[in-house]
Amino acid sequence: MVEHKLRTATSRALYNEAREVLVDGVASALHKSPDEEYPIYIERGEGSKLFDVDGNEYIDYLAAYGPMILGYNPPAVNRAVIDQINKGTQFAAPYKQLNEVSKLLQNAIPCADMVSYQMSGTEANMLAFRLARSYTGKRKIVKFEGHYHGWSDEELVSFSSDSLKQMGPRNRPWKTVGSRGQLEDSMKNIIVIPWNDLRIVEDVVKRNGHDIAAVITEPVMCNCEPVMPQKGYLEGLRAITRKEGILLIFDEIITGFRLALGGAQEYFGVVPDLSTFGKALAAGYPLAVVAGKREIMESGVHPVGTFNANPICIEACKATLGELSKPDFYKKLERITEQIVDGVRKLGESNGITLYCDHIGSIWQIEFGISSPLIDYRDSFRVDRAMYQRFRQELLARGVRVHPTRGRQYVTSAHTAKDIDRTLEVINDAFVELRQ
Ligand SMILES: Cc1ncc(COP(=O)(O)O)c(C=O)c1O
Repeated sequence: MVEHKLRTATSRALYNEAREVLVDGVASALHKSPDEEYPIYIERGEGSKLFDVDGNEYIDYLAAYGPMILGYNPPAVNRAVIDQINKGTQFAAPYKQLNEVSKLLQNAIPCADMVSYQMSGTEANMLAFRLARSYTGKRKIVKFEGHYHGWSDEELVSFSSDSLKQMGPRNRPWKTVGSRGQLEDSMKNIIVIPWNDLRIVEDVVKRNGHDIAAVITEPVMCNCEPVMPQKGYLEGLRAITRKEGILLIFDEIITGFRLALGGAQEYFGVVPDLSTFGKALAAGYPLAVVAGKREIMESGVHPVGTFNANPICIEACKATLGELSKPDFYKKLERITEQIVDGVRKLGESNGITLYCDHIGSIWQIEFGISSPLIDYRDSFRVDRAMYQRFRQELLARGVRVHPTRGRQYVTSAHTAKDIDRTLEVINDAFVELRQ
């Protein structure tokens, strides 16, 4: 268990109180890193920074696991939300701005003939599975090892493993549930294979193609380290699925609105049949979308949900899209991300620390113990996680907050060159400490 090096007595007291009433003392397992005795309680966020209840300040690269593409407390989104609050927060009836936002999404997302709203990425992917089965009349969904698509019974399959041994042979992996209480039966219609290997996809399609409704993938495997698709991999997936009458679903919950306004499908020029978005879509408000071809979206599935397309979230989304559509928004984000990646690589070299650091758009990664990119989930066992944990604690102690367990980090449009310079100073100090 790691001791926090900062003065965090109030966080500790709040956590002790929370344990009496919240399971594990938190509202989501993501709110506390397994290696720390208690999490740090945040009081407020502003731009690239977070401020905790003990008065500590952090430059933040977690971005609340992705949504905060505009940084914390973005004025344009705040204004839109406050305006809407004054008009009402929930009507359970259609309203005018929903058409406008839906058209903006239709224009931005290459596969979006139509869109459908949910509150979370988990629900959006559940709806995508249902649509795929409804349209094709087939049952099975192919997913990849280590890919996270949400926490429902069918989604949380073979997401994480303690060791390679537990995963079985590479060409026929064993399937594993991710939580107690999850039905083993729920994996019956899920086929799991490793990512980034078209031969294995071809093989599985040959054996099960008659009953495969869809292949679901993150176009960049972000909810791992991240891992980039091999050259031609996404194109290959597209070709195989199209040939066999199988739908291709891109889970763009992370890549969506991060790599480009039209997500990874715009970035790579590979258009899936269905796609799901969340996180950065509404810059901190709970909104998710399924986008897809008209005939699939209209194949007889009627999504319900009390809070679907909640006016507050739709206004937040509209304001977010307005900011993301400004000229050079993505170029600026990319430039600042390059600054940190270049700096980290140089510091790794000058300190003699073996690391791999790269980025795609504003998603960047730092991995210890490796110097070449990862290929798939199994390959991620090469990463030195103990070193990452020490690094993270050294950074936190110096006022920089990164992902609690993985090397994946985000830059937001609120990060400045000055933030990056300060972060690099801190990283250098942390590297000096780690060398000893
Ligand atoms: C790639 C991916 N898909 C789906 C989800 C689930 O989204 P949510 O947490 O909004 O249910 C996540 C969440 O981290 C994700 O990273």
